Amino acid sequence: MEYTINGIKLKYEAQGERRWGEEIILLDQATDITAPNPWHPAGYTIEGLFDDNTYKSFFERTQALLIQSWKEAGLSVETDFILDQYHTLAKDSTAHLAAVEKTKLLPITCFPVPVGLLEERVSEICKVSLVAKNPFDGQSIFHFRVIRPEQSDNNPLHRDVWLEDYDDCINLYIPIAGSNAQSSLTLIPGSHRWPESRIEKTTTGAVIDGVKFNVPAVTAIRGSYAVKRPTPLLNQMLVFSPYLIHGGAANLSRTATRISIEMRLWKK
Ligand SMILES: [Fe+2]
Repeated sequence: MEYTINGIKLKYEAQGERRWGEEIILLDQATDITAPNPWHPAGYTIEGLFDDNTYKSFFERTQALLIQSWKEAGLSVETDFILDQYHTLAKDSTAHLAAVEKTKLLPITCFPVPVGLLEERVSEICKVSLVAKNPFDGQSIFHFRVIRPEQSDNNPLHRDVWLEDYDDCINLYIPIAGSNAQSSLTLIPGSHRWPESRIEKTTTGAVIDGVKFNVPAVTAIRGSYAVKRPTPLLNQMLVFSPYLIHGGAANLSRTATRISIEMRLWKK
């Protein structure tokens, strides 16, 4: 799969069987939380997160939570460590995978501020009452996504809803460190409404350069499209449909790890 972001060509080679999709639009059989909003055609929006005081507290607790998690993973880290230098701590994949184990599937009670504040804000943006609880498996969780520079830490292009239990939700990408035009989440605007027949993908979780991913990878796309990196600033978030094709963004920065919070909300 080859694509261009901001004039730079990127490429990945997914191994294994692949297949073109059927003539169906997945969102036709699902709840589209983007529907009542002016940003529905694109499938995403960038919005402000919290008031200044809440954000200050959010950021301080986020920093403390990450540093505590990395310590628990066996990394030697000072309390005033600059987060985007994480790759200088986790120098090999064993250390990185141990750290990732500690910063994924975190219970919502660990969220850096009361999660009701976030639920309220995202409900206001989407004009529907939302809750951070997955109705399919009952989980209330969030993850840190930690993408080191020039490493294969990133997912290939995919729709979340190709995996189980992500139907009907809305996704959040909250930048924490090192998130910019060279590193932030990549997506294809408008692709949430594409029929599956425009997309060829691997029939199971992708294997790329020997790394196994849970998600199938897009391997080809029919017709023209543009890949974008919306770049929310600190105290902003990217709100996007799980039906959008996204991922696949290498961190092209040479000097900074990209860290973001990934979280999903469903209708109450
Ligand atoms: Fe995803």
